Amino acid sequence: MSIKRIGILTAGGDCPGLNAVVRAVSKNALKNGIEVLGFKNGFDGLVRNEFLNITNETVSGILTMGGTILGTSNIANPFNYTLPPFGSADSPRDLSSVALHNFKENQLDALITIGGDGTLHMSQQFVDLGLPIVAVPKTIDNDLSATDQTFGFDSALAVATEAIDRLHTTAQSHHRVMIVETMGRYAGWIALRSAIAGGGDIVLIPEIPYNEDVIVNYILDRKAKGKNFSIVVAAEGAKNELGEQTVARTLPGSTDPIRLGGIAYKLSNMIEDRTKIESRACVLGHTQRGGTPTAFDRWLSTLYGAKALDMVLQGQFGYMAAFRDFKITEVKIADAISNLKRVDPHGEEVKAALEVGMSFGSSEIG
Ligand code: F6P
Repeated sequence: MSIKRIGILTAGGDCPGLNAVVRAVSKNALKNGIEVLGFKNGFDGLVRNEFLNITNETVSGILTMGGTILGTSNIANPFNYTLPPFGSADSPRDLSSVALHNFKENQLDALITIGGDGTLHMSQQFVDLGLPIVAVPKTIDNDLSATDQTFGFDSALAVATEAIDRLHTTAQSHHRVMIVETMGRYAGWIALRSAIAGGGDIVLIPEIPYNEDVIVNYILDRKAKGKNFSIVVAAEGAKNELGEQTVARTLPGSTDPIRLGGIAYKLSNMIEDRTKIESRACVLGHTQRGGTPTAFDRWLSTLYGAKALDMVLQGQFGYMAAFRDFKITEVKIADAISNLKRVDPHGEEVKAALEVGMSFGSSEIG
């Protein structure tokens, strides 16, 4: 099948590297004489038929830019559409047929979707309806199966690690406990890797339930040994032994209707109360998603984008570009969404962290 026109969209939470993928796909397509329509604000653009015609000028100079020139949405779900004026949170509508209609009306031969877990689920739903889709794995959370790394993760990790470095000097000066909260949803990758890279003392991740007594004793023990400050790195999704997580807000209609956040404040109060050591919370939040991508993410995004267009040319629809064993390859979208990729509590990274003296706030591990 000859490919003349393709669509591209960026969906879900933004992250560094999105523009680098859009650029790589578009440059490769335009070089092959293929027109590129960039749908605005994720799947919302496909429903509303809002797009821009991408030229070489459109993608010139965007390699290093954070965010996405196409805009994104982590609420717009054509299968459960809640955005006005076509839908509302109270009465969501299935507008997938509208999206399919727009795809056909624009005479598209393929669609490249760039996104995380929610986007891939929607992409698979559209694949099942016959849409020729190739996906690219994005998320700072690095929680997608079937790829060793998503783009955006390395940039978020760099932000979190720098924050831990900076918090070390202020914690040391004031003899305080600093609790740094990272993003990551239900996976502890950002917290664990930044804690290892930044020399955190305690790291709390969703995969290893924490116990408050263990945290308090570890900090008091450090103090007894003359270490009058501590750095606690807490993933937003960290949970206690009862399985309780800290929910910041709910977002009805979203493919991910819960937003985690705020655990650093809870821990800071608890630690100060019980250790009598002054404690402060620092929630990194969306700083981890903003700004320019690291060199690694620019490189990975460019390889992903170039590969995605190659996959379109080869008719590999229903597949996602993936990064495995330092090679760019392809996997079924269905395989990427079958399970969330989470930290193995008994794996090498946790073992190494324990071996350098870190605590996971658990009496089970360590
Ligand atoms: O999935 C990326 C992510 O940044 C998560 O780490 C975080 O839980 C969530 O998105 C935040 O979403 P929002 O931008 O809607 O606050």
